[in-house]
Amino acid sequence: MRRGVRSPAPSNEQLAGSALQRRVEALLERMTLEEKVGQLAQYSVGTPTGPGTGRSDYETLVRTGAAGSMLNVVGAQETNRYQRIAVEQSRLKIPLLFGFDVIHGYRTTMPIPLGMAASFDPALVEQAMHLAATEAAAEGIRWAFSPMVDIARDPRWGRVAEGSGEDPFLGAAMARAYVRGYQGPSLSESTSVAASVKHFAAYGAAEAGRDYNTVDMSEVSLRQVYLPPYQAAIEAGSATLMSAFNTLNGVPATANAHLLTAILREEWGFNGFVVSDWTAVAELKNHGIALDGPSAALKALSAGVDMDMESHLYAPELPRLVREGKLPMAVVDEAVRRVLRVKFALGLFENPYVDEKAAAYVATPEKRELARRMAEESIVLLENKGGVLPLAPGRKVALVGPLADAPVDMLGTWNGKGDPRDAVTLRAALEHRLRGTPGALRHARGTDVLSADSSGFAEAVAAARASDVVIAALGEDTNMSGEAASRTRIDLPGNQLQLLEALAATGKPVVLIVFSGRPLALTDAQRHVAALVQAWQPGIEAGPALVNLLWGDVDFSARLPITFPRSLGQVPLYYNHLNTGRPASQTDLTRPASNGAEKYVSRYLDERNTPLYPFGHGLSYTTFDFSPPQPSAPSLQARAVRGQRGEVLRVKTRVRNTGTRPGTVVAQLYLRVLGASTAQPVRQLVGFQRVTLAAGESRELEFPLGFQELSFFDARATRTVEPGTRYDLWVGDSSEATQHASFTLE
Ligand code: GLC
Repeated sequence: MRRGVRSPAPSNEQLAGSALQRRVEALLERMTLEEKVGQLAQYSVGTPTGPGTGRSDYETLVRTGAAGSMLNVVGAQETNRYQRIAVEQSRLKIPLLFGFDVIHGYRTTMPIPLGMAASFDPALVEQAMHLAATEAAAEGIRWAFSPMVDIARDPRWGRVAEGSGEDPFLGAAMARAYVRGYQGPSLSESTSVAASVKHFAAYGAAEAGRDYNTVDMSEVSLRQVYLPPYQAAIEAGSATLMSAFNTLNGVPATANAHLLTAILREEWGFNGFVVSDWTAVAELKNHGIALDGPSAALKALSAGVDMDMESHLYAPELPRLVREGKLPMAVVDEAVRRVLRVKFALGLFENPYVDEKAAAYVATPEKRELARRMAEESIVLLENKGGVLPLAPGRKVALVGPLADAPVDMLGTWNGKGDPRDAVTLRAALEHRLRGTPGALRHARGTDVLSADSSGFAEAVAAARASDVVIAALGEDTNMSGEAASRTRIDLPGNQLQLLEALAATGKPVVLIVFSGRPLALTDAQRHVAALVQAWQPGIEAGPALVNLLWGDVDFSARLPITFPRSLGQVPLYYNHLNTGRPASQTDLTRPASNGAEKYVSRYLDERNTPLYPFGHGLSYTTFDFSPPQPSAPSLQARAVRGQRGEVLRVKTRVRNTGTRPGTVVAQLYLRVLGASTAQPVRQLVGFQRVTLAAGESRELEFPLGFQELSFFDARATRTVEPGTRYDLWVGDSSEATQHASFTLE
């Protein structure tokens, strides 16, 4: 009996269908051992996305049935070329499965995933990912190495850009949205691509935020914080999963039977296939758990890795291991079944080719409109002192900074086939916006992203003096986040802070737009600015989205999916932390304490405990208030809740737009469990809703809660609820919500 698995999703059912099984068995019976193993070998053809130098015999590999999948093949002509070799020249004519890193768009580049998570809008993310799937499938790519759902609490880690931030509930909601967007109602649709939830598991917990580094945590933390988004993706029907590079509690994820078989297969009922990450099978030797290639291949396959990405080990080693009696043929057969099931479900045997004469890509108005909406809903207003925003018409603007006119850096990491020529920069959008007013816009670069040269400051300061307001476009370039891009400093890079100080010294109000793939430490920066906007890397419609937001044509609605610390010294810093036995007082100490209550508490001598901006934070041009949450019952029976599939409690609140203009708020419901057998976080997100209200309008909201939301993991790492516990609830528009109520479990 699989614990906690809800009803299987479309592709899970497809993969388990009896008609499809019969086709798989009929083909399997005809395959030689080498042809079986060929289906388990994946090769990168084209620009590599990892270490290695490639091969020169891909056509031969395909023609002899020694390759089952390829990645990084780009273009319909190329995918068809290799597919024709497989389907028309190989003995069994099994089609290839082409994979690609479709992470936040294929050609129409959306905001980076951390930005899309800030929208708290899974429905829009699903639309955006369906567009990505449509574009990729049109070129023969029927497998996306996405969603990346690794929970991340350390902004030093460059891949924080690729995920949905620090929270399991938001991460799970986004994981479901990506899978639904990619796979649609059926994998056999020509516009569907198989998802590949990654990187299983807990890759985002790399020690010190250093990529590929060691991960060590309790089973309770693993299950309570890191696994929920993977499980959500599997329950949403992700057809594949990618195993991670890192060790988890001493066992490399790519040879970890606890993860890949016990949890993934036996508990969650996953019936797709597992692909290793790039050369991760071979890296078992570096980890020290494999003495040689055969041992690495045997350990990975035996643990549950069905396909070998770029280690070039399965193909040469598995047949020998079978013939030497070290590897049962049944294990190979089951891996091949899993791969063939996905290929049949995708309809590749019926439709292996794509239309090479399909119209060349155009960033149509509809695609741009979706990319712009996604960007507008992703960009977070962090500060707006004195209502400097929205900008009034007619104001003269100085646009300064190295990211004002940087199309490449608007696309962000893992931008697929994104083309900087499609990107509309902030400068271009401002020029368009202010085209009717000569002299309304002055532009000066001021400095580079990573520079000590201040020779450009004078021009920037002059532009500021001649204007009414300064827009400073600062932050990271696209290569400063993503894979193998960890940083030991998260301040504004180079001399950008000095430029900001020079601009502020003019006395003109400064609106700082931060472009980055991670939270930066903005404590010094925010002192000098009237408004602060976190733009992430917003995609091809960066400029138009920002201009619409800055002038108020569209209101800000995004909220932070990850904590922004005051300084790196606080990291890891996240909202759903445990309370400790000596929590610092809410006065948020910042001075050395003499003695007594302020001294012996969990705090620093030189920094506050609180973040600069908390999870869930974001401003709008209007304001909202909430009534206290009302649980539908003051008390529940624990035994009536345990293991329940549906709703067990409903929480109501009323949200009101208390401002003078319409706006959208992300209503957030948090809870804390007290009296449990294990210490529980001071807050956990268990519900969110985007709500758009006219000025003065109010609306009643209802949050259904089930066992999944009320449960936690006990010391034996079993998901449970316990009698004699009290649940505190808060509702509001950030993790610092104050409207409170409680209920109990008897
Ligand atoms: C990379 C990444 C992974 C990606 C794969 C193929 O090393 O870790 O996320 O999907 O290789 O490019």
